Amino acid sequence: MPKLTILPAGAAIEVAEGTTLLQAILSAGQPIMHKCDSKAECGSCHVFVQDGRKSLSKIERPEHTKLDTIVGVGSKSRLACQAKMGAEDVTVELLGFSSGF
Ligand code: FES
Repeated sequence: MPKLTILPAGAAIEVAEGTTLLQAILSAGQPIMHKCDSKAECGSCHVFVQDGRKSLSKIERPEHTKLDTIVGVGSKSRLACQAKMGAEDVTVELLGFSSGF
């Protein structure tokens, strides 16, 4: 199974393909907000994907629309509740509680 590394803690877990980054990060016991319950509406699950971006599921319209409204979004940005793991290893960086609003 592909490995997900979660910064800044450096936690690493194996994650089944098709699992959302949010599910994986929560199952690793790492802190991440998810106020809208994975509906791509709140933006609080915004993370930076530092490695393995191409392995993740493509950005669909609801995620794209929400990302457009978040300050500080860059080319590495994804909503953890929308991005699903592929076959390759991925490294994400949690942005803390100040992101996504
Ligand atoms: S949990 Fe709200 S956008 Fe991801």
